[in-house]
Amino acid sequence: MIRLTIPSIEEDDLATVRAVLETGYLVQGKQVAAFEEAVASYIGVPHAIAVSNCTAALHMSLLALDVRPGDIVLVTAYSWVATVNVIELCGAQPVFIDIDPATFNMDVTHLESTLQRLMAQPETARRVRAIIPVHTFGQLADMPVILSLAARYNLSVIEDAACALGASLDGKQAGTWGSLNCFSFHPRKAITTGEGGIITTADEALQRRLRALRNHGIDPAASVQDFIMPGFNNRMTEFQAAMGVTQMQKLDRIIAARRERALRYNTLLEHTPFTAPVLSPAGSLHVYQSYVIMLPPEAAPHRARIMQIMVEQGIQVTIGTCHIPMTTYYRTRYNTMPGDFPATDEVAARSLTIPLHEQLTPADQSAVVAALCESLEGI
Ligand SMILES: Cc1ncc(COP(=O)(O)O)c(C=O)c1O
Repeated sequence: MIRLTIPSIEEDDLATVRAVLETGYLVQGKQVAAFEEAVASYIGVPHAIAVSNCTAALHMSLLALDVRPGDIVLVTAYSWVATVNVIELCGAQPVFIDIDPATFNMDVTHLESTLQRLMAQPETARRVRAIIPVHTFGQLADMPVILSLAARYNLSVIEDAACALGASLDGKQAGTWGSLNCFSFHPRKAITTGEGGIITTADEALQRRLRALRNHGIDPAASVQDFIMPGFNNRMTEFQAAMGVTQMQKLDRIIAARRERALRYNTLLEHTPFTAPVLSPAGSLHVYQSYVIMLPPEAAPHRARIMQIMVEQGIQVTIGTCHIPMTTYYRTRYNTMPGDFPATDEVAARSLTIPLHEQLTPADQSAVVAALCESLEGI
């Protein structure tokens, strides 16, 4: 079986987890602090707050920014559902933005026109609070434009950088652009802690709020226990954090391996009916959390059959990510229709994620592309 992903878990990861388990100190100790320090210094931010997963990180970020019921948050239409569920769970309203089909990221032209429309009406203008751009599949969204629009309308920006640890644009890392920025350590990401997430920020007051929110609302600065807000238990365990430290030491190596394999796929896919991901614009370092190709348009209605053929050939594949406005909940709640987000409609119908991980060999990659080409004969 050629697997979609295999996390790079090695002897040092196993040894450190074992050592922590043997101490019996499993929560709220120095491993979490060490992991936070490793991530903060890698990215170059003053604060990193480790949490149980990136969904919790995004949810806590909205709460820390005081996003309230009735507020509006602009968000990409094409992402994992968590990006939007957290808005809904705050009682706020997502306003979806279509994507740029070349990068799969938020279309900043659509963002600007949507903001102009919302800001022209006093009833909506007063409710617009934040923008959540996603760095889809590990490539940065157009952050300079998004930040300038946010500044124009005085909005907060939360980067959903779940897939983008190590990615950068013009030398500036994911996790340094927004007020709060969220990463995932789920096993399909470059490095993993099983489940896990982290929030980065330069804002002292926000980091204090987040540390309270993740730990039942306990004041992180008080010497005597005091509860300053209602909070969650969204803590990361010590053994996860210890593994996070050893995983961080491999991050650059893993990113280099993923980029090298992505380039090989690009070459293998030339002269096939499939479309490789468009090369990143100059200055953008793509970390390829997923390698997502587009099926030829006429094959899109047969995608499920193609996926089945690939699995029969021993090759794991999956779709790109979710067309969130067309999922049952969001379609029903906001009355969204096919055609409302034409680029997302097209990408969501044609995208296919193929295997990418450090253990993938050149022969595996040739086998994947050969099986893809053969699959078209079976539909
Ligand atoms: C873009 C995006 N946002 C958020 C999440 C949620 O991350 P987690 O699984 O760590 O909660 C994911 C997970 O895959 C994701 O891809």
